[in-house]
Amino acid sequence: NGTHKPAGENGSASNGLMGAENEPRILTTRQGHPVTDNQNIRTVGNRGPATMENYHFIEKISHFDRERVPERVVHARGAGAHGVFEAYGTVGDQPIAKYTRAKLFQEKGKQTPVFVRFSTVGHGGHSPETLRDPRGFAVKFYTEDGNWDLVGNNLKIFFIRDAMKFPDLIHSQKPDPVTNIQSGERIFDFIANTPEATHMATFLFSPYGIPANYRQMQGSGVNTYKWVNADGEAVIVKYHWEPLQGIRNLTQAEAESIQAKNFNHATQDLFEAIKDGNFPQWELFVQIMSDDEHPELDFDPLDDTKIWPKDQFPWLPVGKMTLNRNPVDYFNEVELSAFGTGVLVDGLDFSDDKMLQGRTFSYSDTQRYRVGANYLQLPINAPLVKVATNQRGGQMSYKTDFAEGQNPHINYEPSFLGGLQEAPKAGKDYTPRYEANLLRQKIDRTNDFKQAGETYRNFEDWERDDLISNLVSTLSTCDKRIQDKMVEHFTLADEEYGRRVAEGLQLKLKDQSDKGPIGATSPKEGVEEAQRVSH
Ligand code: HEM
Repeated sequence: NGTHKPAGENGSASNGLMGAENEPRILTTRQGHPVTDNQNIRTVGNRGPATMENYHFIEKISHFDRERVPERVVHARGAGAHGVFEAYGTVGDQPIAKYTRAKLFQEKGKQTPVFVRFSTVGHGGHSPETLRDPRGFAVKFYTEDGNWDLVGNNLKIFFIRDAMKFPDLIHSQKPDPVTNIQSGERIFDFIANTPEATHMATFLFSPYGIPANYRQMQGSGVNTYKWVNADGEAVIVKYHWEPLQGIRNLTQAEAESIQAKNFNHATQDLFEAIKDGNFPQWELFVQIMSDDEHPELDFDPLDDTKIWPKDQFPWLPVGKMTLNRNPVDYFNEVELSAFGTGVLVDGLDFSDDKMLQGRTFSYSDTQRYRVGANYLQLPINAPLVKVATNQRGGQMSYKTDFAEGQNPHINYEPSFLGGLQEAPKAGKDYTPRYEANLLRQKIDRTNDFKQAGETYRNFEDWERDDLISNLVSTLSTCDKRIQDKMVEHFTLADEEYGRRVAEGLQLKLKDQSDKGPIGATSPKEGVEEAQRVSH
């Protein structure tokens, strides 16, 4: 319908900021009492002491004491914007209904409001936006069938393919638990012991590891999903966002010069572009495969460390997104926004990708802790369609939406007495059949290095030079066993790749020994290196 979600319950824009010209903009307490003195606490004589019945002061200071919620355990630093997604009604040259019955995609020109949050991953809420790190690209579609979240990153692949490893991966990239400093050695200790991460490390240490800003970067769902049509037939799909502004990345040197002057450059760039009416746009593409194991491929299509080659699985356009409205309250809209991979609508489904399954538990679990049990009642997270649920109560519950004619006494189902009822099915159920042993085992077609080599060879010369220089710079701070294992993995990916890293490390070693033992091992230098080369 093209309209956007109201920013806050009170339509905050009319509340003071843009009040009618002659209306006084009266400050009140949160109880609605007009505040007549906001400068002085109540005291016995004007030199104090203060009294305890200072209701306004105590409310003001105790609210201030609670102004933060825990930050996201990953992706803590972010920026958000509202916009609209417009469907093409087709996928490539086919009607989209052939593959999915998801309503938001069906008609050409159909508009769905969206909210997007971009982020960096590893560091805290106010960390520099120039750090080497994947970038988050999370989109919430407020569809007529309820919300759909597409929680992606800028890079198309990931470090690991099993959710079991995620806390270890993140611990290795977060600050050292003793020094509270991020360490290249800890990062590469994990990567050297995780051969499937070689491909991601190749992207991350190239200029793709530092997108120039949020507007000029791609997005990808990374994990494999399914589409289901009205006949209950499924295909497996991958999603990709392509920026119409073009793609722009930074070398390490460029990033450092920006960081010296501005550590909010990406948030600023997004906010100012939208404020100036220069609305960023992305086209959404999908790649489609038949719903089977694809034994003909030398990788497993459910393995998120792999790219589905574009020449075999073309990118098919399905719609376009425009971001056209800034948040009016960063905390309410960006900080409290909650995205998750479980949030799908009819016609979209999960694949068996083991990472996706692990992620799907993790998001709503952390949000019940981070934001609270009723995080879905907040305007930024609530769907635009009517909610009618028997899940009531809990901390900070503030409203119950009733369906037309619903008996409010009946908070259970099934019932004869006017309670809520199940919805009719929108199409045939998709019911895949499984037969396998229950076990703990990695997939067969791991093929950890081939695509890393292809990615290396596909880079332009300057990108390869920056990659080698970034890797050498970080690996030179690492234990020899880590260096040797990484050179072995890069060589398995591409002989030249491994050789250039090895030569770079030898040169660095020589440089350091020429400087003498103190220069080479100075703890100060180690600290600077660790801070500079964020993963
Ligand atoms: C955020 C878990 C893999 C993209 C988060 C959060 C958790 C999490 C707990 C914080 C959510 C919040 O506080 O609201 C996991 C787990 C993973 C995984 C357990 C693997 C098993 C991935 C992958 C991607 C990804 C592969 C890329 C497609 C994101 C994004 C956010 C996020 C973009 C930030 C969402 C926002 O802006 O609020 N993840 N994640 N994650 N994750 Fe993951």
